[in-house]
Amino acid sequence: MQVALDNVPAVVQLPHQGGILRWIRTTNHKDIGTLYLFFSMSMLLVGGLMALTIRAELFQPGLQIVRPEFFNQLTTMHGLVMVFASIMPAFVGFANWQLPLMLGAPDMAFPRLNNLSFWLLPFAAVLLVASFFVPGGATAAGWTLYAPLSVQMGPGMDMAIFAIHILGISSIIGALNIIVTILNMRAPGMTLFKMPMFAWTWLVTAFLLLTVMPVLAGTVTMLLFDRHFGSHFFDAAGGGDPVLFQHLFWFFGHPEVYILILPAFGIVSAIIPTFSRKPLFGLRSMVPATCMIGILGGSVWAHHMFTVGMPVGAQLFFMYTTLLIAVPTGVKVFNWLATMWQGSLTFETPMLFAIGFLFVFTIGGLTGVMLAMVPVDVQLHQTYYIVAHFHYTMVAGTLFALFGGTYYWLPKWTGHMYDEKLGQWHFWLTLIFFNLTFVPMFFLGLAGMPRRIPDYALQFTNLNSLASIGAFGFGLTQLLFAYNVIKCIRSGERATAQVWEGAKGLEWTVPSPAPHHTFSTPPVVE
Ligand code: CU
Repeated sequence: MQVALDNVPAVVQLPHQGGILRWIRTTNHKDIGTLYLFFSMSMLLVGGLMALTIRAELFQPGLQIVRPEFFNQLTTMHGLVMVFASIMPAFVGFANWQLPLMLGAPDMAFPRLNNLSFWLLPFAAVLLVASFFVPGGATAAGWTLYAPLSVQMGPGMDMAIFAIHILGISSIIGALNIIVTILNMRAPGMTLFKMPMFAWTWLVTAFLLLTVMPVLAGTVTMLLFDRHFGSHFFDAAGGGDPVLFQHLFWFFGHPEVYILILPAFGIVSAIIPTFSRKPLFGLRSMVPATCMIGILGGSVWAHHMFTVGMPVGAQLFFMYTTLLIAVPTGVKVFNWLATMWQGSLTFETPMLFAIGFLFVFTIGGLTGVMLAMVPVDVQLHQTYYIVAHFHYTMVAGTLFALFGGTYYWLPKWTGHMYDEKLGQWHFWLTLIFFNLTFVPMFFLGLAGMPRRIPDYALQFTNLNSLASIGAFGFGLTQLLFAYNVIKCIRSGERATAQVWEGAKGLEWTVPSPAPHHTFSTPPVVE
């Protein structure tokens, strides 16, 4: 272990080195990236345990394990924890680790703000999860916190609101830091179009964050005022409108989906070229496609609300804009396929996850096209079909890319190799159990099973049992991942200069100076 680290400058340290103070005070982007990633992994465990409790309850009809209110609290918290405390921090962790390396920058633009934006997170997460223990329990209004229900809930709701504020501040600071880093800190000669795709996707993501996080903050503040200060923003009796809450929430909520997915696109755009031994196909169309997704993503929000009784003209507008998003997304998918076309492909774990991502994410995308159509959506609204659809985009779009990216960059981050065989097992079991969990939900939704209920009619039993078995398999499989990462850090083989055979230099398709702190051989400068 020590021998392996001798060649690496002191800035690359692993979590078990150095006292706790070092981690609290650190302004090093790699340290902060590591903190983000470990925080995200631990919250993935918390959110995952909630999901497993939900699936355990749904294994059979009837009420066995949890009370109905607690079931609702679990669905709410599973969503909030996964979105805000697990997936978003994971991508910020990747940004912290990779952006300065990819751009040839010495660090992030504002290292101290960077420290702050991480250390806000644990407090917010504790506040969020601690709301289970206040009178009335955690909020049971769903992660969307729809008014008027959320106006009437107990103090757990206030804790969720404050947690969201803190998480929002953290995200906004992080987004500013990323934008300034990308725009101001690139190595000489690196124009925007020479940046790796990952930097591009994060640039668009950061602008999306800046646009919508304040809207969410405003929305939950209005909610807070309705709860405690007698305003009636969302109360029809006082001249307000509960539908307004939905508009405001989804103006944030839909772009949030792209905030979670665009960095995943960036990771996949880094992995596929490496294992195809070809440069990324069509960077010039990838960048506009990413920007189009960002812009269009801001004009589709009411597709979550087709059943509130909006005018037909508005329904058509949101239907068409939603369908349009399939175009830039399709451009990306075809570019990835074209990158693989006639490449000399190998299938190490990162590539498996990237290809797995393409399969499952496309299922998520295509079912999204179905749901975009108003008559279909009205039928499927509030059913398990929605749950299946967005887990295909969220779990496939984010988790698969995050796993792939982690395996891909672990050798660079730690100087050690992960266990390839274990990685392959992790991929195949994840793929199988993921589909076993969520395919049944499509059929449950089509058969009319509503979401967010702890009990269900007898005819849904078999499919629910299958989904629960899949979920437990999926959860257990992730222990392989945790074990593999820890094993890699502690006792993995020393990574060679050329980790992925024949792919040397492809990752650095830009003439920036090689970061001195990655592999010992300088990359090919083109
Ligand atoms: Cu949406």
